[in-house]
Amino acid sequence: MTATQVNPITLLHDRYGSSFPDDFLWNDLVNALLTHRSVRSYLSKPLPKGTLETLIAAAQSAASSSNLQLWSVVAVEDQARKDRLSVLARNQAHIRQVPLFLVWLADLSRARHIADSRKSTSEGLDYLETFLTGAIDASLAAQNAVVAAESLGLGTVYVGAIRNNPEAVAKELNLPPLVFPVFGLSVGYPDPENIPAVKPRLGQSAVLHREGYSIGNQADAIAEYDRIMTDFYQQQQTGVNADWSTHSTARIANAEALGGRDRLTEVLHNLGFEIR
Ligand SMILES: Cc1cc2nc3c(=O)[nH]c(=O)nc-3n(C[C@H](O)[C@H](O)[C@H](O)COP(=O)(O)O)c2cc1C
Repeated sequence: MTATQVNPITLLHDRYGSSFPDDFLWNDLVNALLTHRSVRSYLSKPLPKGTLETLIAAAQSAASSSNLQLWSVVAVEDQARKDRLSVLARNQAHIRQVPLFLVWLADLSRARHIADSRKSTSEGLDYLETFLTGAIDASLAAQNAVVAAESLGLGTVYVGAIRNNPEAVAKELNLPPLVFPVFGLSVGYPDPENIPAVKPRLGQSAVLHREGYSIGNQADAIAEYDRIMTDFYQQQQTGVNADWSTHSTARIANAEALGGRDRLTEVLHNLGFEIR
């Protein structure tokens, strides 16, 4: 999935499912970003030597709040461990297929360790703010790795479903207290027979607000997107028989719809986070 140059107009049309204004700045990186799609079907082909280190260097090049670097990542290549993680994450098959599964962590344990070793307090770690900082740092790092992976011809898909069973994932990966698995990431060579289409996004008038938030254009943009996604779901034979709004509403309708993640506050406490 190297970012082969596709006509910008075609790519923008794919990304929004509709025509796009002419004013647009284009270069290879923008082309690559607009070509992103999550890949869920992979070849068993191994990754070239040095791939992991390259992805992690890209990840570490992301910005980090106060340069605290409150994140870590566990690289999983062992087949039996990938199999077990797959079970914990709704049995997603790609976790078993890929040569590399990365588990991105909000990691406050290193900071506590450093403070302890200097006989300093580290009460700041007990606040929601610092947990959020770790989760944000991990997310920015992971996305840099995704962009690097895609530029190397690899595919990826994030796996939020590891948060369905975060305590079991923590146990599987031997995580110490104050380390939370934010999401997984499958990394491998996409099956060329099964390259997914670029998935359209909401029109910019729904997400881009100039100078201040406005509700104004959102209803029209959402209605338009519902039409676009209904066609997309049908064309791609995703088995989704609803528009995007219906699908999204079901995903947030109640605690059960969170697939076990409604327990997150309790889980975080169990993993040593105070979250004040
Ligand atoms: C934090 C996060 C967690 C995700 N978890 C999953 C997952 O568990 N399984 C999956 O198949 N896709 C997962 N995805 C992928 C999204 O479904 C996907 O990004 C979205 O549908 C848009 O499609 P695209 O990435 O192909 O553009 C996740 C994405 C993010 C950002």
